[in-house]
Amino acid sequence: MKSFLTMDDADFFCKRVLVRVDLNVPVQDGEVTDLTRIERIIPTLKELVKANAKVVIISHFGRPPFHERGKWEASYSLKFLAPILEKLLGVHVAFASDCIGPKVAAQVDSLSIGQVILLENLRFYKEEEENDEAFANELAGSGDIYINDAFSCSHRAHASIVGIPKFAKISMVGRSMQAELEALERTLTTPERPLVAVIGGSKISTKLDLLMNLMDKVDSLVIGGAMANTFFAAQGFPVGKSLCEFDMKETALKILAKAKDNKCQIILPEDVVVAEKMTPKEVIRVIGKEQVLETDMILDIGPKTVSSLENVLKTAKTLLWNGPLGVSEMPPFDVGTVEVAKTAARFTVEGSLVSVAGGGDTLAALAHAGVKEQFSYVSTAGGAFLEWLEGKTLPGVQVLIREN
Ligand code: 3PG
Repeated sequence: MKSFLTMDDADFFCKRVLVRVDLNVPVQDGEVTDLTRIERIIPTLKELVKANAKVVIISHFGRPPFHERGKWEASYSLKFLAPILEKLLGVHVAFASDCIGPKVAAQVDSLSIGQVILLENLRFYKEEEENDEAFANELAGSGDIYINDAFSCSHRAHASIVGIPKFAKISMVGRSMQAELEALERTLTTPERPLVAVIGGSKISTKLDLLMNLMDKVDSLVIGGAMANTFFAAQGFPVGKSLCEFDMKETALKILAKAKDNKCQIILPEDVVVAEKMTPKEVIRVIGKEQVLETDMILDIGPKTVSSLENVLKTAKTLLWNGPLGVSEMPPFDVGTVEVAKTAARFTVEGSLVSVAGGGDTLAALAHAGVKEQFSYVSTAGGAFLEWLEGKTLPGVQVLIREN
């Protein structure tokens, strides 16, 4: 792995440790619907409490509208997460109603060893997203040591991600960020081969950079979801009423040609599940991809494709997965994604496959299949995971790399 300072490299005793985490969790009717992002940062926080640090947690939450920045707005406050953190951490978590200013400084200064405080949403200040130096400097003043444990925010060149390390005496990666970087390295930089990528989702246009980058690196690229329909259309197969980017047909052909040059095997579905409407009670048919009627919508991969993918995964050593293979949130169009996810999980548990998945829809699909825990690593990052797959340098990672 590239060289980062980790939590093994510092003595936290009596130190104020400023930890950037990602508390941008999904909320519905005031309830957190998925705790994964919070659960992932608990090991870092527990380790700091145990080491008798004074723990200062910072995060953004949502995207407060521009006119609200710098102003407090209840629906974007992080206050409701303090009791949830407290429960998972097992120690009291105090809350500061701002993230900078003399009152916060006093609250941080009065922390005793082993105590924890959560500061208010960073994005109440537009200076956070502007990466304002004075703001970053003021934030940095709340810590003797800075830890980034928010890989999922590390594609943002914001003050709390790239600004603070310029002012902090010591900056390092937290346990969750470390695990994420190690998993990603193991998948694309130093993978055991064959390396297979399964890429689903609806649009080639949003995954073009990703497909191009992966083609240089993976041995096989499985394309599913509505994205596959554009490839079908480009190859002259009928797609009926299916979601399809007809204006991307040329691009799809270029991708196929580039894959051939790169000796990357592209795997498209052989058979598909179709219905006339995308509703759960619709009559479905399983047909070859050449048999799609004008009134059909392609909504999932068929059983022949599922079993070919099982064979691909049987010989693969590493799997990278992003994007569902059908309308995975709506049974019966979830079967393809669920079956392939279960197969990948089985090979992972049996030890023949290292499986790494990421992206919001993918996580939901794996949870729906009941196999999220069985994958080798599941990233909670959305945009950051995609940018990494696209081969981009994440500013928040870059800033923590140490020159040797
Ligand atoms: C995410 O949810 O992907 C991160 O928290 C980043 O949020 P953002 O896209 O609002 O910057």
